[in-house]
Amino acid sequence: MFMAKSPMDTLHFACIQIVIALLLFTHAKSTIEGSTSALHPNDAIPSCVAGEKSALLAFRAGLSDPANLLSSWKGDDCCRWKGVYCSNRTGHVVRLDLHGNGQALAGNISSSLLGLHHLRYLDLSHNRFDKVHIPEFIGSINNLRYLDLSGSLFIGRIPPQLGNLSNLRYLNLGYISDTTYSTDITWLSRLTSLEHLDMSGLNLSTLVHWLPSVNMLPTLKVLRVTNCLLKNSPDSLLLSSNDFYGPFPDGIGNMTSIVELDLSDNNLVGMIPSNMKNLCKLESLVSFRNNISGSIAELLHRLPNCSPNKLQDLSLSDNNLTGSLPTTLVEPLRNLNQLDLSDNKLTGHVPVWIGELKQLTNLDLSSKQPGRGHT
Ligand SMILES: *[C@@H]1O[C@H](CO)[C@@H](O)[C@H](O)[C@H]1NC(C)=O
Ligand SMILES: *[C@@H]1O[C@H](CO)[C@@H](O)[C@H](O)[C@H]1NC(C)=O
Ligand SMILES: *[C@@H]1O[C@H](CO)[C@@H](O)[C@H](O)[C@H]1NC(C)=O
Ligand SMILES: *[C@@H]1O[C@H](CO)[C@@H](O)[C@H](O)[C@H]1NC(C)=O
Ligand SMILES: *[C@@H]1O[C@H](CO)[C@@H](O)[C@H](O)[C@H]1NC(C)=O
Ligand SMILES: *[C@@H]1O[C@H](CO)[C@@H](O)[C@H](O)[C@H]1NC(C)=O
Ligand SMILES: *[C@@H]1O[C@H](CO)[C@@H](O)[C@H](O)[C@H]1NC(C)=O
Repeated sequence: MFMAKSPMDTLHFACIQIVIALLLFTHAKSTIEGSTSALHPNDAIPSCVAGEKSALLAFRAGLSDPANLLSSWKGDDCCRWKGVYCSNRTGHVVRLDLHGNGQALAGNISSSLLGLHHLRYLDLSHNRFDKVHIPEFIGSINNLRYLDLSGSLFIGRIPPQLGNLSNLRYLNLGYISDTTYSTDITWLSRLTSLEHLDMSGLNLSTLVHWLPSVNMLPTLKVLRVTNCLLKNSPDSLLLSSNDFYGPFPDGIGNMTSIVELDLSDNNLVGMIPSNMKNLCKLESLVSFRNNISGSIAELLHRLPNCSPNKLQDLSLSDNNLTGSLPTTLVEPLRNLNQLDLSDNKLTGHVPVWIGELKQLTNLDLSSKQPGRGHT
């Protein structure tokens, strides 16, 4: 529900339609449920709160806007400005969606944003803030539910102040820039309402234990930590002679709310932990380009085996899995629509049960190594 990003043109168009409808049927009910309208059919509702308009103008003054993306930011009703969305009930600015789209904003992020006391949604993604750090004050925009800074080119450290955003449901810090890093993510554990977390491309190479903070999030559904230079923690390597060894720390089996897990492009070595069986909500397990090793049969055995089986995507290309696929269908795979085990060290034939997977639309068991792989 937090993923929807309706293009502004569509929204304005919808609003115009609604106004027409209201003109025709004075008692008609609005149909824009779930969205916040920039228009106020009822004139009694203030159109734009003066203090919030000044906050927006001060914010714009710090930006550099070579493509003139904010040319609509003039006139009294700030609720009609591009990217600004007001509550149709209170008139307060609740959403600021300034994601770049080929053309980008740059410059400085003014703390005047703090003047938007009702802001719940902030999207600054895909802009060009390549000379400034993520401002610490963003952690003080208390009402934020949604924060997207992906691809925004901010430099340097992720400010731990983000841990003050206790209402946050969605946090996207994916591929901000080559230089963004974090050496301590314990602040994450305070985001107890978080459902979606993307830290892909962040340099997390100095973290010894990366999972515990994430593991504290009781409602986390999506975790993407690809290309983060993640390593095995020392104790998981220590255990690697036992049965409990694993690239993913054992605690991953405690993330029972998780739906989507993407750990691709890290330096994780070993077998997945056996307690992953508990993850009954898991729909997608993606881990390209790690060094997951051990027998494929054992790995399949450790996948969630629940009723019903939710797993739809198992993508483990470019790892170090060995052995052959079992000759009979293992239940956890029954509802797969994507199976990618390419570029491992698998041997043997493609089993007949693959043909019985009714939902399967993508299958890749190929291998780049000549003379190996399936026949
Ligand atoms: C205001 O928005 C809510 C949803 O956020 C919607 O249910 C309601 O009908 C809208 N009211 C008006 C007058 O547009
Ligand atoms: C951003 O801040 C720096 C340092 O305060 C200043 O030199 C620069 O001109 C500012 N950029 C804009 C677009 O205002
Ligand atoms: C926000 O977080 C920082 C560091 O994590 C902390 O020092 C500060 O007191 C917090 N501020 C508020 C207003 O909670
Ligand atoms: C990641 O961060 C570490 C320490 O902060 C640094 O030594 C290393 O060069 C960084 N790696 C990359 C690829 O930026
Ligand atoms: C996982 O949960 C169990 C039981 O709730 C707990 O004893 C254990 O410490 C947890 N492990 C981790 C790594 O969080
Ligand atoms: C993982 O495997 C690659 C080669 O496939 C190797 O270069 C890399 O060093 C391995 N990483 C670890 C942590 O073993
Ligand atoms: C692949 O696994 C084998 C044996 O399990 C091991 O010797 C080898 O180092 C592994 N390769 C990588 C790249 O991890």
